[in-house]
Amino acid sequence: MFSNFANVWTPLIEAKRVGRTPLRVELAGEGLVVFRGERGEIGVLQDRCPHRSVRLSLGTVGDDGCLQCPFHGWRFAPDGENRHVPLNPDAKRSQLNATSLPARVIGDLVWVYTSPLGQPAESPQVPEGLDEAGLTRTYITRTWHCHWTRAMENMLDSPHLPFVHRRSIGRGLARKMKPDSRMDISWEDTSFGGRSIALMDGVDGGGRLEFFRPNVMALTIPMPGRHFRIHALVIPVNESETRLVVATSRNFLRPRLFNLLFQSSSRKIADEDRAVVESSPPGEVPPPGHEQSVATDKATLKFRHYYHRVLRHSAC
Ligand code: FES
Ligand SMILES: [Fe+2]
Repeated sequence: MFSNFANVWTPLIEAKRVGRTPLRVELAGEGLVVFRGERGEIGVLQDRCPHRSVRLSLGTVGDDGCLQCPFHGWRFAPDGENRHVPLNPDAKRSQLNATSLPARVIGDLVWVYTSPLGQPAESPQVPEGLDEAGLTRTYITRTWHCHWTRAMENMLDSPHLPFVHRRSIGRGLARKMKPDSRMDISWEDTSFGGRSIALMDGVDGGGRLEFFRPNVMALTIPMPGRHFRIHALVIPVNESETRLVVATSRNFLRPRLFNLLFQSSSRKIADEDRAVVESSPPGEVPPPGHEQSVATDKATLKFRHYYHRVLRHSAC
């Protein structure tokens, strides 16, 4: 399961979208089914019945919070435990469980661990903007036709801002940029991934870009006395499709009406990126050294190193 994306925590879906109706979600080439159990707990199972491999997402969740397979009615709890095998009272149910994945709700999102082999040692490391109480958050989702690694490194790439986003988030940089300008990118390894700062002609504009392994970017927009962050959650669907969730968090302009403004801005930024990212060759980013790189590629090269040394060839 999850070849090239195994043994990591990843955001999967907004928790509010998950209820008693089983929902099929594709993640890194694996079909998953997500539903809520009796006490509202989230279950994430491989969307494949252990009996005859039909999609469990075609089934139904009963009052007991168990997901019933549509074919022969086997019933599974959110943790995958087999609770009933109709017409077979002698069946060894403990050997007939569904494959479940560790899952947690953090902030507004369901996070899942890409290995069915028990609880992972570490907890997901989540940007504070996605988790902290008292912040107002917005989300938008886009599907891009590209390998997720191309989309992820786009999110870590500062020098594209004054070009691709010259009319939005990169406007300030575009105005300051002169033909002989220089951008210096710093990178600091952190426990969760890394932090990058981009200086334009030696000036720190205050923005902070953080990478949370394997697939989350958090950008702090400097606003004195205020919290404003833009997050990109780059979720692999399969080899050629990526689900991009852009989340914002803020502690100002709190009325919900303003959410529309932030969502509209997130959509604009994402859609500006889309055409260039989708124009890259199909498939994953190449290893460092396989495309020409310059000094301002420091952060994206860090990602390429991580992907090719750690994630690639991972499987469970
Ligand atoms: S295929 Fe699921 S119960 Fe038979
Ligand atoms: Fe961008």
